[in-house]
Amino acid sequence: MSEAFEPKNIIVTGGCGFIGSNFVHHVVREHPEVHVTVLDKLTYAGNPENIAGLPEDRVELVVGDICDAELLDRLVPGHDAIVHYAAESHNDNSIADPEPFVQTNVVGTFRLLEACRKYDVRYHHVSTDEVYGDLALDDPARFTEETPYRPSSPYSSSKASSDMLVRAWTRTYGLRATISNCSNNYGPYQHVEKFIPRQITNIIDGIRPKLYGDGKNVRDWIHTEDHSSAVWTILTKGRVGETYLIGADGEKDNITVLRAILKAMGKPEDDFDWVRDRPGHDRRYAIDSTKLRRELGWEPRHTDFESGLEATIAWYREHEDWWRPAKAATEAKYAKQGQ
Ligand code: NAD
Ligand code: TYD
Repeated sequence: MSEAFEPKNIIVTGGCGFIGSNFVHHVVREHPEVHVTVLDKLTYAGNPENIAGLPEDRVELVVGDICDAELLDRLVPGHDAIVHYAAESHNDNSIADPEPFVQTNVVGTFRLLEACRKYDVRYHHVSTDEVYGDLALDDPARFTEETPYRPSSPYSSSKASSDMLVRAWTRTYGLRATISNCSNNYGPYQHVEKFIPRQITNIIDGIRPKLYGDGKNVRDWIHTEDHSSAVWTILTKGRVGETYLIGADGEKDNITVLRAILKAMGKPEDDFDWVRDRPGHDRRYAIDSTKLRRELGWEPRHTDFESGLEATIAWYREHEDWWRPAKAATEAKYAKQGQ
């Protein structure tokens, strides 16, 4: 294990999104010596409410675009690390309109790498297991750090491109960077466009949940709290230049997850609609996180999916004011796509 890195003043991009805001809460709660500057453009997916109430002397929100090089020149000096979460993050949106994905995920990452190079700032890149493409349902294999990149969608190919930039900047310019590729996250504060919150809020609204294709696609679910603890571990203990896969052995097919939601919400298990499949829909993702566990000693703590799901359902029931403003427009967009 390399010497621990002890950041004191970090920038978290996308800190008003689902996973980035969880990380900000994690750092404020667990690491009182650290100040966080959140850089977030507040797109449709960013909500300052996600970090509201955190102490002002610990967290500052700067509203801006990661593609804005002049802003980065003003902001980055004086910080000792950037943890990069900001992205266009939804596959279905990337299929309907890929351009913002290339802009934010590829060009935005490029700008951050250049700023880190210029001001000698350490960089952690938050990425996805979707860069590896998909596995067959009957394949016993799981993704490892050695799996070749084979992204399928505009979203995953833009994330794969950004990972490649990080690797090149590390090797060519000696940038002090680490990369993590995590599986599907769930938990509170996730946008209602994503699978689990979409179905929960549909049921609350009396709309039948929508299942793509044959419902057998497998995702490897991890609670967002576990993702945050893993990113902190990699930032502070990971070896520069290395990639770490983050996963919590949570493989489940979509129909099983949907039936668990229906059951937990007191609905019959077949009370849903089959809808048009996603074009290019990845079949299965599965993470082998041995390297992260053995090398850095990380373990997930929220591995009881049923209870995590129940707590998430309770959160959406109690926070209708948080998700309500986005719900109608999200469903209108899906309806246009036949989904
Ligand atoms: P999200 O869509 O909920 O949040 C994205 C955030 O980035 C928002 O706050 C948005 O305002 C901000 N943002 C977007 N474009 C920006 C720009 N140009 N400049 C500044 N801010 C901008 O996404 P999420 O689900 O929290 O995902 C966060 C990161 O984690 C992404 O990089 C994603 O690829 C990665 N990831 C997500 C998952 C998952 O299951 N959701 C799994 C693995 C990795
Ligand atoms: P999603 O939350 O969009 O995450 P990702 O595409 O990054 O895996 O979708 C998770 C899975 O659920 C994926 O296989 C697509 C499927 N899905 C549905 O069946 N119905 C839906 O309404 C949505 C949004 C997704």
